[in-house]
Amino acid sequence: MFLQHLTPRLIVATAVTVALAAASAANNNFDVKPFKIDLTTEFSRLKSLVNLTRLPVKALYPGVGPEKGVELDFLSELRTEWLTTFDWGAQQAELNNFKHFTAVIEGLTVHFVHERSDEADAIPVMLLHGWPGSFHEFLPVIEPLTQSAVSATGKNVSFSVVVPSLPGFAFSPAPPAVNWTVDNTARIFNTLMTEVLGYSTYAVHGTDWGSAVAYSLYGSFNTTVRAAHFTFLPFFPPSAQDIAANNITLSDLQKVTEQRVSEFNAIGNGYLIEQSTKPNDIGLALYDSPVGQLAWIAGNIKLWSDPRSGTPPSVLTNTAILTSVSLYFLTDSFLSSVWIYAQNPTALTSVYTKAPTDAPLLFSQYEYNVGLWPKEYVAKVGNLVSYNVHDFGGHFPGLDNPSALTKDIRGIGLYFKA
Ligand SMILES: *[C@@H]1O[C@H](CO)[C@@H](O)[C@H](O)[C@H]1NC(C)=O
Ligand SMILES: *[C@@H]1O[C@H](CO)[C@@H](O)[C@H](O)[C@H]1NC(C)=O
Ligand SMILES: *[C@@H]1O[C@H](CO)[C@@H](O)[C@H](O)[C@H]1NC(C)=O
Ligand SMILES: *[C@@H]1O[C@H](CO)[C@@H](O)[C@H](O)[C@H]1NC(C)=O
Ligand SMILES: *[C@@H]1O[C@H](CO)[C@@H](O)[C@H](O)[C@H]1NC(C)=O
Repeated sequence: MFLQHLTPRLIVATAVTVALAAASAANNNFDVKPFKIDLTTEFSRLKSLVNLTRLPVKALYPGVGPEKGVELDFLSELRTEWLTTFDWGAQQAELNNFKHFTAVIEGLTVHFVHERSDEADAIPVMLLHGWPGSFHEFLPVIEPLTQSAVSATGKNVSFSVVVPSLPGFAFSPAPPAVNWTVDNTARIFNTLMTEVLGYSTYAVHGTDWGSAVAYSLYGSFNTTVRAAHFTFLPFFPPSAQDIAANNITLSDLQKVTEQRVSEFNAIGNGYLIEQSTKPNDIGLALYDSPVGQLAWIAGNIKLWSDPRSGTPPSVLTNTAILTSVSLYFLTDSFLSSVWIYAQNPTALTSVYTKAPTDAPLLFSQYEYNVGLWPKEYVAKVGNLVSYNVHDFGGHFPGLDNPSALTKDIRGIGLYFKA
């Protein structure tokens, strides 16, 4: 099939027995294997391609701003860093500080990071990324979540953290069927948590496409998914007119977000229409072009984030952006990743319906995100127990405000009942 993904280049670790015991208390019918990332050879090829790729010496129309797409200065700066100071070896070593595994579920290989808490009463939680993200965007919150700490509401909790790569992203190969949806992904991820890893109940966190998977899990697996936290929802954010018609008054902070949502809808969603309708055009055009993928992705990462991104508490630096784009290129997953839009034409809806579950739902609004869901709207879709607003961070809070996201997710501890 033309969507067939290349086999991820994994090096199976030698200490299989020890690591396997950590991966799977339950059983190993799912061919669970630990692995280390080794894309060193692929990175040197990336570098040669980047070196051969020319960019204009000066902008065609200087000063038009990021509203017209990625700015040449920013792209050139990133390109130069990729060729000079960016150290893939160091990044790869950091990625390999986490325990990576693959499992085969319904014939599909699924990559995931799994880090257990040492506490017997730890809450299992699965963190779900979107586009253009990956497991990488959650790395800063994993270790803190595995440690016991007192939540804002006073409960001392820790988490066993699972971060899968969505099918078609990073080391999870493309899904087998052209009509593979987020509901299919939710089903295999529930199997991952319960049958592969042996957690009878667990919590989920989702952003972007990961929120669609998390919401599907929340509604369809109500005996195993016993809490959910979201920073994004698979419901179109209400328009300013809708909000006003419902007599909802926005705070000043929410007004900033609302302005960004309006801009996104007016001039920011071209990529979304492209990827929903002609995924092969952009997927093949940029297939072997690292600078092309960088141009398509980096501007949006920047635009959807806090204007202060890259300064504390944000760790969304140029290096993080380059690592993220390197992962897309080096794993051959750019093409399959954009397909998620075409495969899920109805995953986002304007009809707010309540999921059939009594499991608690927690929501956090980050000021510079490109979606705004006032509390009254979130309450329509689930059993809302907590609504937080943060004035720092945007669409990738795992990178842009990891300490706040850690606290948000830790908040699950007060409501989770296994
Ligand atoms: C880029 O290519 C030029 C010309 O072949 C070479 O001199 C230079 O060392 C290369 N730079 C990098 C960073 O590979
Ligand atoms: C939280 O739990 C950990 C592990 O049981 C313990 O070491 C720590 O002292 C506790 N902290 C508080 C504030 O109770
Ligand atoms: C995929 O879905 C479309 C639209 O629902 C349908 O027309 C098509 O037959 C499906 N393709 C496969 C291979 O199931
Ligand atoms: C909003 O307030 C107006 C005026 O009080 C009222 O007529 C209307 O029914 C309210 N709308 C909603 C959706 O509550
Ligand atoms: C789970 O969903 C089913 C079917 O939609 C519903 O009947 C049941 O009450 C739900 N259970 C919980 C615990 O919410």
